[in-house]
Amino acid sequence: MFDPKVGAASRPRFIITAMAAALLSATAWADDGTRSTAEGVYSSEQAQQGLEVHEEYCAKCHHYSYFQGGFLISWRNQPVSGLYDLIKLKMPEDRPGALKPKEYAALLAYIFELNDLPAGDEKLSHKHDAMEQILIADE
Ligand code: HEC
Repeated sequence: MFDPKVGAASRPRFIITAMAAALLSATAWADDGTRSTAEGVYSSEQAQQGLEVHEEYCAKCHHYSYFQGGFLISWRNQPVSGLYDLIKLKMPEDRPGALKPKEYAALLAYIFELNDLPAGDEKLSHKHDAMEQILIADE
């Protein structure tokens, strides 16, 4: 016989199970190769390319010092992909999204260099999945 109470009673347990699963997967994500921008996640060559991209597309509105000082503080512990998305969505202000993914990634490399974050051997990938695995440190 159909008993509506059974379904209603089991629902909270389902929600708790789903929350536990989400927590577990979040923990797995944190253990699973997450890096920080303090660990050399771009190359010097890429930052140099970013400087050129900045001069061509950004410098008329932003002096490079705009990206220094406290610029990264509000991004602390956020994935690099978030900053990438914001810049791509909004900038250059007169032509948002106009640059190539590699150019936006090079800009990030330049911004990291401007903030004294160390360069490493490999370029910063412009692939979203890869950028999601790197958290922003501001020093
Ligand atoms: C035509 C002028 C102009 C150009 C070119 C331009 N910007 Fe901007 N940018 C602005 C203005 C104005 C703001 C502040 C308003 C805003 O936040 O939307 C801003 C804000 C920003 C912000 C902060 C956005 C936020 O919401 O916190 C970032 C980061 C940024 N610009 C990066 C760049 C980069 C990188 C380039 C080059 C690819 C660029 N901008 C080119 C005018 C410009």
